[in-house]
Amino acid sequence: MGAFFSSLGRTITAGVVILIVIVLAASGLTDGGARGNDLFIVRWLHVMAGVMWIGLLWYFNFVQTPSMPKIPDDQKPAVSKVIAPAALFWFRWSALATMVLGLLLAYMNHYLIPAMTLTKGVHAIGIGMWLGLIMAFNVWMIIWPNQKKALGIVTVSPEEKAAAAKLAGMTSRINTMLSIPMLFCMVAQSHGGL
Ligand code: HEM
Repeated sequence: MGAFFSSLGRTITAGVVILIVIVLAASGLTDGGARGNDLFIVRWLHVMAGVMWIGLLWYFNFVQTPSMPKIPDDQKPAVSKVIAPAALFWFRWSALATMVLGLLLAYMNHYLIPAMTLTKGVHAIGIGMWLGLIMAFNVWMIIWPNQKKALGIVTVSPEEKAAAAKLAGMTSRINTMLSIPMLFCMVAQSHGGL
C-alpha cells in the first residue's frame, strides 16, 4: 500500500481508474447511459487544470511567500532552487492548459465571440474569461520571466534581481485578487450566480 502511494504516477492512474468505474456504474443506474460527452470531458479537464493553476497560485500567496522570512538564509535555497522552480513548472503549464481548454469550451458552446464581446446572456462567463485571460497573460508575460531572474534561473545584476522579485510578487498578488471574481464568474454562468 505504502509502496503504491509512493508513486505519483500510480496514484494519478488509480484516480482515473476510480473515475472510470464510477462513470460505468453510474451509466448502469441511469437510462441515458453515461452523460459524458466531448463538451463535458473538456469542461472536466478545464476545471482540473484550473484547480492546479489556482491551487499553486494560492500556495505561493498563502504559504510560500509568507514563510520565506521565517526560513534561515542558509536554508532558503531549498525553496528558491528546488521547490519554487518545480511549483512554477506546474503553475505556468496548468495556466496555459486552463486557458486553451477554456477557450475551446467557449468555442464548443458556440459563444466564444459573444462571450468575449460581453453580449447579454453570456456576459458572466465573458467577464470570467477576460479575467482568466488577463491572469494567464500575467503568468506567462510577467510572473514567469521575472521569477526566472528572481530565482537565478537567468543571471542578472542584484538590482535587477530584486526588482524582478518585487514585480513577480506584486503580479502574483494581483492574480490572487482577480482569482476571486474570476472563479465567481466561471460558475455563475451555469449555476445562476449572476
Ligand atoms: C483563461 C482562463 C479561462 C477561460 C478562457 C475559461 C473559460 C471557461 C468557460 C467558457 C466555461 C464555461 C464552460 C461550460 O459551461 O461549458 C468555464 C467554466 C468553468 N471554469 Fe473556466 N476559464 C478560465 C479559467 C478558469 C480557472 C483558472 C478556473 C479555476 C478552477 C476555472 C474554473 C471553471 C469552473 C469551475 C467552471 C464551471 C464549470 C461548470 O459550471 O460546470 N476556469 N470556464
